[in-house]
Amino acid sequence: MNEVDLRDSSPEPFLLFPKDFLWGVSTAAHQVEGDNCNQWSDWELAGRIKSGDTCGKACDWWENAERDFDIARDLGLKGLRLSLEWSRIEPEEGRFDPAALQRYRQMLEALHERGIEPIVCLHHFTHPRWFEQRGAFLRADAPQLFERFTREVAKAVGDLCRFWVTFNEPNVYAACGYVLGEFPPGHKGQLFNALRVNRIQARAHVLAYRALHELVPDAKVGWAQHYVVFEPGQGMASRWVASLLDRLFNHTFFDLIESGRLGFPFGLLNGRNREARGCCDFVGLNVYSRFHVAFDIRYASTFFANVFVPSHVPQGDPGFDRPYGEAYPQAISEAVRRAAGLGKPIYIMENGVPDAEDQIRPWLIVSALRELHGLIAEGHDIRGYLHWTLTDNFEWNEGWKLRFGLVALDPETQHRTLRSSAKLFSEIVRGNGLAVSTMAPAPLSNTLP
Ligand code: BGC
Repeated sequence: MNEVDLRDSSPEPFLLFPKDFLWGVSTAAHQVEGDNCNQWSDWELAGRIKSGDTCGKACDWWENAERDFDIARDLGLKGLRLSLEWSRIEPEEGRFDPAALQRYRQMLEALHERGIEPIVCLHHFTHPRWFEQRGAFLRADAPQLFERFTREVAKAVGDLCRFWVTFNEPNVYAACGYVLGEFPPGHKGQLFNALRVNRIQARAHVLAYRALHELVPDAKVGWAQHYVVFEPGQGMASRWVASLLDRLFNHTFFDLIESGRLGFPFGLLNGRNREARGCCDFVGLNVYSRFHVAFDIRYASTFFANVFVPSHVPQGDPGFDRPYGEAYPQAISEAVRRAAGLGKPIYIMENGVPDAEDQIRPWLIVSALRELHGLIAEGHDIRGYLHWTLTDNFEWNEGWKLRFGLVALDPETQHRTLRSSAKLFSEIVRGNGLAVSTMAPAPLSNTLP
């Protein structure tokens, strides 16, 4: 718990954020760089992008990330999270590409020149094809390979970055790749492999944490945890499956870092990862949605849980074959209360909504920040808010169908247009907070009849 002076002296009641609060945006290499060459490129070639879209040049960052960095500077942003693409840096096992590392140096320098703090993520769902082919994070030696990659990165750009995220959403990576079959390698129902992947990632996180501290003296190292609210329907059975999903999805990786072992009952099956215990300098939280959960015998592959989004709740644009999720700013409070147990500073590393017409994004931003301000006032040590995302980017399996940007992008022409949310967010950032009267329209739903 921290002590922050949130008193304000302006005539209009104002939700002032702590001095040095890190306001920014998050991005990921595969989604913005273009001309990718990782396991997701193979997934796309295999026709697995539901919309049939191709990533192509994405936001053209490999050639010209600086165009979006200019926009970030003009909006007054103070931080920008990006990931460095392992498949570019180590295209063949053991061969590191100096030109790729040089390009990343250039990008990080470009951010500093614009007064923007870079936050570097080392694994945002993608890795080299050779790593995928040898079994990725199912293999016991994956942590050493990840550590070797981390060391090369730290040596090449360590002087340009203080904040490091080892893994983005290990829970999403494991659940989508090994239980739901939505991400490569596309396996379904492999719960034990998903747990194994998370345990091996926790070990990789520890090795990367230590390597970064050895090579970058002032490094702050954490991970980004996706957190979803599972709202049970009526009855004991629904409550039971909702709490099972909550345990598996929200708590597996948290438990590994908090206590060095998987939570009950999964911890009984595996030994401890003692070294992982407390191994982070901050916790990153990625928070978007709430899902409703009802016990249903027909859903055997998802532990008899029917996970759905009622049509009357606020939500952004739907995905290709299902709703994206309920836009639920209150999820931030649940996530922060869970993360507070670790006793480390907290950063909201992602929060956003797919909303091409910008109908509910302004409401989402304002509501999320009110939530956050309340939590800080309660004493939670929350140091920053990074919105997902700056410019519309390639949304994994959904391709170009879902638009999360403060800035709209036409991927054909690379033309960019500021959405009203960009202007709203920019005012908030410049004012280090928002007036209490800042618009808080009733929750709208793009999908209301
Ligand atoms: C991921 C992003 C993704 C965003 C929106 C997060 O879970 O980290 O890569 O684009 O959600 O779906």
